[in-house]
Amino acid sequence: MKVFEKIADLQNELFILRKGGKTVGLVPTMGALHEGHASLVERSVKENDVTVVSVFLNPTQFNDKGDLERYPRTLDADCRLLESCGADYVLAPSVSEMYPEEDRRVFDFPPQSTVMEGAKRPGHFNGVCQVVSRLFYIVRPNKAYFGEKDWQQIAVVKRLVEYINMDIDIVECPIIRDADGLAKSSRNTLLTKDERAVAPYIFKALRDSVDYAERHSLAETHDKVVSDINLVEGLEVEYFEIVDGNTLLPVSSWDSSSYIVGCITVYCGMTPIRLIDHIKYKG
Ligand code: PAF
Repeated sequence: MKVFEKIADLQNELFILRKGGKTVGLVPTMGALHEGHASLVERSVKENDVTVVSVFLNPTQFNDKGDLERYPRTLDADCRLLESCGADYVLAPSVSEMYPEEDRRVFDFPPQSTVMEGAKRPGHFNGVCQVVSRLFYIVRPNKAYFGEKDWQQIAVVKRLVEYINMDIDIVECPIIRDADGLAKSSRNTLLTKDERAVAPYIFKALRDSVDYAERHSLAETHDKVVSDINLVEGLEVEYFEIVDGNTLLPVSSWDSSSYIVGCITVYCGMTPIRLIDHIKYKG
């Protein structure tokens, strides 16, 4: 496995491989890698001749600078994990290498980029699109792999690929969870022992709500999830929205769509750490 800090060095290698007809898979990451990322890399290794992983903590997608400062940075451990998963290349550029000058492009893909995370974290998806489009131009992958934990992000990236007109297959990979149900996330390492102990109640409430939804209205199911989680000391729901899986717009009844997903963001602990998750009700 080769690790590059310079974009041109990676591009030189990829140019030769592509000329030789090799297919390229890209796994974009911000580092602090865990089994969730490993599953994306392993899938890319299976489905492509060459796998590139980017490790770049992208400042333009953080609307909260404290969140950026707290974000774990673990490049050496990340490289060890990536090597064990079979990745071929790691691109770990500096901020000035990735953005030689300020990125002034604006990406706006309503409603997918403006609801939920888009509304709560202004500028977040614009930053995601800035960096992901750069990575797509740099690597020119055949396939790019994204985890379903950031479910809304996948919907936005699909719009981005259409907009920039690149022939890249966006591969959605299932959430990887700890044994107690907590979705794997780089932010989980920031939780204290007490916070970690209550965090699984988020997925428990979501999972329980699937059965509940069979006998109750959408509004009742919504309220039950929110109250189940808010009853747990140390957890506070920021939003829970039950939306159409394609438009990401709220639906008002179980009959309104054939694809329905509940999306949640919860504050955990005193810092607090913001945890996101989702559950599919239909489709
Ligand atoms: O999902 C992430 O880790 C990031 O948003 C991504 C796609 C790597 C862009 O920085």
